[in-house]
Amino acid sequence: MEDKTARLGAAYQAEKPEDIARVYDAWAESYDQDMSLAGYRHPAISLAILTRHVPKSAAPVLDAGAGTGLIGEWLKIAGYSHVEALDISAGMLKVAERKSIYKALHEAALGGTLPFADDSFDAIISAGVFTSGHVGVEGLDDLLRICRPGGVIVLTIKDKLWQSGFSQRIAELEATGRCVLSDDTGPYVSMPGEAGTTPSRCIALTMA
Ligand SMILES: C[S@@+](CC[C@H](N)C(=O)[O-])C[C@H]1O[C@@H](n2cnc3c(N)ncnc32)[C@H](O)[C@@H]1O
Repeated sequence: MEDKTARLGAAYQAEKPEDIARVYDAWAESYDQDMSLAGYRHPAISLAILTRHVPKSAAPVLDAGAGTGLIGEWLKIAGYSHVEALDISAGMLKVAERKSIYKALHEAALGGTLPFADDSFDAIISAGVFTSGHVGVEGLDDLLRICRPGGVIVLTIKDKLWQSGFSQRIAELEATGRCVLSDDTGPYVSMPGEAGTTPSRCIALTMA
């Protein structure tokens, strides 16, 4: 499978975590170039939102679904000195490792219990992960557990997921005082260079 559109299609249609890991393992070496050609905007937009809410002294920061480290590269340039990466794909993490931008790499799956203690992170950023065939709203719960009180979680979310349960879950969390929706970009297209890309949004949650 050479073509980025086919790889994206396979990623969106994955049904099991093993499938998604396999798709990204095979894609890892050409992912950065393919996403650059697609005009991929999630890293820039999520970083802009993060810097609005998180001081650069924040540490540690978790890049959840870090992939090859596109966001880690920018976080380092922006001055965040302790960022850790988590991803389900060993192949993507191998590419990230070569960039020497993360303090630690964790091969683990969002959606279940993550290998971190409660309140471990000052901030969490996750881009391109809460989307079709990847991780649904169930992946949010353990991020809430590992983010410290007062910490911030920045997520991009495919708008289809937002409309079909995600926004309702956030409203419940706000109603119970667990966190506040502190930013919401509204819908934008994450890959303007890829025909048929449906909208996503980027939100920030501030933990109580
Ligand atoms: C579109 S890429 C985004 C990577 C990176 N955040 C970026 O913006 O370039 C999606 C990433 O999510 C990872 N992923 C998918 N499902 C996952 C899961 N359940 N747990 C952890 N990572 C997952 C994939 O392996 C892949 O690296």
